[in-house]
Amino acid sequence: MPHRSSETSHPAVRSRFDRPTILMCPPDHYGIEYEINPWMSRARPADRERSKEQWGLLHALLVSLGADIRLQEPVPGLPDLVFTANAGLVCGDVVYLSRFRHAARQGETPYDKAWFERNEFRTVSLPEGFDFEGAGDALFCGETLFAGYHMRSSATAMQWVASQIGCRVIPLQLVSGYYYHLDTCFCPLDTETALYYPPAFDEYANKALVAHVPNLIAVAKAEAERFACNAVVVGRHVVTNTNCPQLHKMLLTRGFTPHETPLDEFLKAGGSAKCLTLRLDGEEAAIWPAAANGVAKSA
Ligand code: ARG
Repeated sequence: MPHRSSETSHPAVRSRFDRPTILMCPPDHYGIEYEINPWMSRARPADRERSKEQWGLLHALLVSLGADIRLQEPVPGLPDLVFTANAGLVCGDVVYLSRFRHAARQGETPYDKAWFERNEFRTVSLPEGFDFEGAGDALFCGETLFAGYHMRSSATAMQWVASQIGCRVIPLQLVSGYYYHLDTCFCPLDTETALYYPPAFDEYANKALVAHVPNLIAVAKAEAERFACNAVVVGRHVVTNTNCPQLHKMLLTRGFTPHETPLDEFLKAGGSAKCLTLRLDGEEAAIWPAAANGVAKSA
């Protein structure tokens, strides 16, 4: 299954991985231990066994779709480490490490850094004072980096990362506490197609999305609340939480193959399929610009 368009004439950075490669972290220490978004309530704890079961089903589904899953070691006291999308933004062999806004998650970064270094990535830390939550807030669609800011990441951090990568960035202001990361309300499916939930963005961001994404698909409120936009894309396969029937129907008409898997235990923390994964070889929809690693790897 071609997961990166090598047919393009764009001198893109190519991944060293030869198939979709995804970082996940088993939920051994996952739980609702603090409240940093409106989905989280310590009064509504996650069920340990169900969490493990649901994570296992997602893992198995992604493997069945041809993904190579790499695992990060779970760490006691870091319940949100399971949301690997927030470890950083991967671009070629470089990873821009997160600088979490909330102290509760800041302890994750040394573990993320160590994992990436052991796995031959070059890690880059943002200057102090910038907030940046990795692939939770920064998503390529084509050659453009779409960057959510205000809730967790700062607009200046996004500008800094884009200038390092050498790509165009479209900053998008997030306005709803429930959609606090860009990947909760926006999901690139291919280089010209993305899902989004319009009320999560300010008016300017809505206009920017319409102007810059040729095929923009709005999801319904009830399905946005099921984290429909927090989808994992593997080739033309799209994996979401359960109960997103309208989205799944629409995906079929556009030539995608939808899959559902129960992730309610993770919704309690404000996360779903996409948050539990980090693409190490690049998103389906992304074209990493050649400037990213300093050198373009030729085809
Ligand atoms: N409880 C986590 C937080 O609030 C959930 C993170 C979900 N990750 C994501 N990429 N949206 O930070």
